[in-house]
Amino acid sequence: MSFDEIIDRRHTNSLKYDFKAENGMPEDVLPMWVADMDFRCPEAVTQALEKAARHGIFGYSEAEPGYFDAIHAWFSSHYGWEVRPEWLVKTPGVVYALAACVRAFTREGDAVLIQQPVYYPFAQVVQDNGRRLVNCPLLYENRRYRMDFDALEETIRREGIRLTMLCNPHNPVGRVWTKEELARLGDICLRHGVTIVSDEIHADFAHTGHQHVPMASISGALARQTVTCTAPSKTFNLAGLQVSNIWIPDEEKRRLFRREMDKTGYSLVNGLGLVAARAAYEQGEEWLREVKAYMEGNVDFFRDFLRIHLPHAHLVEPEGTYLLWVDFRDYGLTHEDLNQRLIRDARLWLDDGSIFGNAGDGFQRFNIACPREVLREACTRLALAFRKLDEELAGRSA
Ligand SMILES: Cc1ncc(COP(=O)(O)O)c(C=O)c1O
Repeated sequence: MSFDEIIDRRHTNSLKYDFKAENGMPEDVLPMWVADMDFRCPEAVTQALEKAARHGIFGYSEAEPGYFDAIHAWFSSHYGWEVRPEWLVKTPGVVYALAACVRAFTREGDAVLIQQPVYYPFAQVVQDNGRRLVNCPLLYENRRYRMDFDALEETIRREGIRLTMLCNPHNPVGRVWTKEELARLGDICLRHGVTIVSDEIHADFAHTGHQHVPMASISGALARQTVTCTAPSKTFNLAGLQVSNIWIPDEEKRRLFRREMDKTGYSLVNGLGLVAARAAYEQGEEWLREVKAYMEGNVDFFRDFLRIHLPHAHLVEPEGTYLLWVDFRDYGLTHEDLNQRLIRDARLWLDDGSIFGNAGDGFQRFNIACPREVLREACTRLALAFRKLDEELAGRSA
């Protein structure tokens, strides 16, 4: 597999490449925003989809037992987590499941706890469903994020929190939470009867030296307290096929979740998505190993480039995901000026940090799941757009 190949994604219904004008972006902008990859999925997946397409009948579909077996084997070998078939509820996406959890486990007006900066639909699904958003921000010290456990427990007590959403590995700050951190958060939630929705969609992108730990794998009590959202979509680049796997060990929670799904009229997932997911989990291991190694090379490239050419932009060292969180605050630009400089001057389409919460203001999120040459082009554009400012700042401090 050559991840260096630049594949033209224009005119493929690509959200990332085909809707620039609709999003107010110039035509020549380089998109590095929405979290999918510019790489082809594993060949085994394409072959399985070709076979299914050739069959030519696309009737209502449900997963055969081999589907569960493939995912079970994956989680068992990668995370030592033994899922059971009855825990599984399939949804068309993780965000759909997050919203269903909010409705299933809280009532209108109830408070839901999140830790910003975090994937922006966390806040959206809370607010769109008429719940109260309570934020206990991550602490940012020495360019590293951690949870504020004392504030978390105090907030849970004060606000009467019954539901929290956790992002692990964390988008956008790139933390792969350790078992100790998760256990500490888990203990707090168990003490106060807080249900945990653990979004683990980026699980398979923990970088070398870091190990993803499913919250529900830590103890039986935490398994019963947790709804775990997983999907093959980030791991194997299958987001458009709309299949995710939600694991709910507690029977009553599962019943409440299913009831919310039923209310929306949704029952069966995309048949081609089932085919792709199974093939990916059965045969995608080597592809994933290669893509992760390539991505770590991209991180190295980006880190070196920033250090040499953009000394006032700081990479928050990622432990996982292919999304890089960069601190631009040393440039002293206003929110508007920073975004203008990136779009108008650098011709880059990134995710503005403030969409992840106020704490993200002055940061930008880069999706680096692209060929190295594309990344080099993006970095060059960035350096040109900031060169003068970097020189001025260097002059000022000299
Ligand atoms: C943390 C997180 N959760 C969920 C999603 C999207 O999930 P889905 O497309 O299955 O709704 C993303 C995509 O970027 C994500 O980063």
